[in-house]
Amino acid sequence: MNNILPKDLIDRLTEIYTPLEMEIIDKWFSCEKRKTSFRVNTLKSSDREILAVLKDNNLIATKVDILKHGYILENGSESDLWWLDIYKQWKIYLQSISSQIPVDYLGIKDFNKVLDITAAPGWKTSQASAILKNTWEVVAVDNNQIRIDKLNFTLKRQWCRNVNIIKSDAKFISNKNPDFKEFFDCVIADLPCSAEWKINIHKEKSYGFWSVSNIKKNYYVQKDILNSVIPLIKNNWTLIYSTCTLAPEENEAVVHMLLSNYPELQIQDINIDYKYSKKWISWFWKHVYRKDVSKSIRILPSEESEWFFVAKFKKVKVT
Ligand SMILES: C[S@@+](CC[C@H](N)C(=O)[O-])C[C@H]1O[C@@H](n2cnc3c(N)ncnc32)[C@H](O)[C@@H]1O
Repeated sequence: MNNILPKDLIDRLTEIYTPLEMEIIDKWFSCEKRKTSFRVNTLKSSDREILAVLKDNNLIATKVDILKHGYILENGSESDLWWLDIYKQWKIYLQSISSQIPVDYLGIKDFNKVLDITAAPGWKTSQASAILKNTWEVVAVDNNQIRIDKLNFTLKRQWCRNVNIIKSDAKFISNKNPDFKEFFDCVIADLPCSAEWKINIHKEKSYGFWSVSNIKKNYYVQKDILNSVIPLIKNNWTLIYSTCTLAPEENEAVVHMLLSNYPELQIQDINIDYKYSKKWISWFWKHVYRKDVSKSIRILPSEESEWFFVAKFKKVKVT
């Protein structure tokens, strides 16, 4: 990977990760085929039905301990699922292991009002809808019509009937919707990021986009969106922030900013015991992050999961 990827990227990685972790990352960047993972869509099926169908078709799926309904296909690939009715009928939904963590650990309960602030194409919206069992509303926001069309399509196929889609720039969601003030119990902020998980040395397109200025731009986009969203959370309720990138400027720096600017936000333990999770990064270049940022978790890329960063907050009343 050293001769192919941008030098600045390699320098950053070697500063952040141990040599052992770099071996894992190297494998991820050079891997041509990754394991298939999925989530059981509990609005249409059950884990028991799915496992039975897979068994009848000589396919083996292992449950991922840390997830509610997440599985890894051990002896097949995506194309082995395509012709099965459980796939065609959207009883299973291809979703990476890491991408299932934020919603599973958000603490959504029946009748909660959930906001998914940059929602398309809907992995997390549909997961939240399934946890709510269509009992109450999920508001899903995105500003890109093509991706909203995909979101709509996905939700219909999965029988997610409790989602209200709003096309809007998330930065202005609070100004445009005064009724949303302190309205939501749970907020999913899986924000636009530099998406470094996509990098693969076999696909030039996947790293051609990479630059430090793009990372910095994303920090400011995330900050503006979060500033708009925090007033919408009810007291004593929850925000989960996640990205699928590894740059500390978009992860730890954003959590540091939130904790410094919003005394009403308390960072929470996520209590995840996963072999590919890694502790936070306490400093990067000249920046030293607050100690409480350490409750954030990073998921390392592996043969079964992709990069992810997750932090969970409770909003409390400050006197
Ligand atoms: C990382 S993706 C979200 C993935 C989604 N949470 C899921 O799990 O399927 C980021 C999304 O943010 C949207 N987006 C980017 N900037 C936005 C903005 N200012 N307002 C609203 N949506 C935005 C993009 O269109 C994209 O769909």
